[in-house]
Amino acid sequence: MNSKSDQTKILRVYRSKEQAKESYDRISRFYDYFAGVFEKKYRNLALERLCIAEGETVLEMGFGTGHCLKQIAELIGETGEAYGIDISSGMLEVTKKRLEKAGLIDKVELYCGDATEMPFDDDKFDAVFSSFSLELFDTPEIPKVLSGIKRVLKPSGRLGIVSMSKEDGNSILTKLYEWSHEKFPKYVDCRPIYVEQSLKNAGFKIEHKDKVTLFGLPGEIVVAEK
Ligand SMILES: C[S@@+](CC[C@H](N)C(=O)[O-])C[C@H]1O[C@@H](n2cnc3c(N)ncnc32)[C@H](O)[C@@H]1O
Repeated sequence: MNSKSDQTKILRVYRSKEQAKESYDRISRFYDYFAGVFEKKYRNLALERLCIAEGETVLEMGFGTGHCLKQIAELIGETGEAYGIDISSGMLEVTKKRLEKAGLIDKVELYCGDATEMPFDDDKFDAVFSSFSLELFDTPEIPKVLSGIKRVLKPSGRLGIVSMSKEDGNSILTKLYEWSHEKFPKYVDCRPIYVEQSLKNAGFKIEHKDKVTLFGLPGEIVVAEK
């Protein structure tokens, strides 16, 4: 039987970057038919909580098929700038098509790369948004990604995250999910993490938090200031 401290520990992610990229490239064209549908409500709520305003410069990390990036491009209006970074070139192509169709492609710069190595200047963004992506990074990488985000945020810049959560997370369903992550790491790539605590550890000031439930699994929406 696992000890209490084992039960509160978050699981590791052993998949390589190359494997992550290949896997998301492979599913990019079908992604919206499964995962996207289930997560839409919480992506949108998290984006709403970030209160993006006209004229802001905003980055999305792990933009996937680009639904939120399209909304970000609309929210920032004529004078704002939107950027996205994602490791999958397949996802980038899907997003590019979505933005072209919406007539927004000229407002958004898309980067294909690993978000642990942010290719942006210091103090560039008013806000950074990320949905269901932070929980894909291995445990030692989470502080690295957050410190990269902190670096590229302006002083008082905001970070908005929605993610699966390990808080209150020792239900049968969470244990089952974690079991599948350990058993089938190629397919169940993410796992519950401590979002608020990770942001606090990285030096962010927590502004707002919602606890949500995704088909019985706990989730956190957290907005924090640099
Ligand atoms: C679970 S999907 C979520 C997509 C989208 N944010 C949504 O909510 O529908 C995770 C996304 O993160 C991207 N990703 C995974 N590892 C990454 C990394 N190291 N750097 C940047 N993006 C990454 C994947 O390619 C994928 O598009």
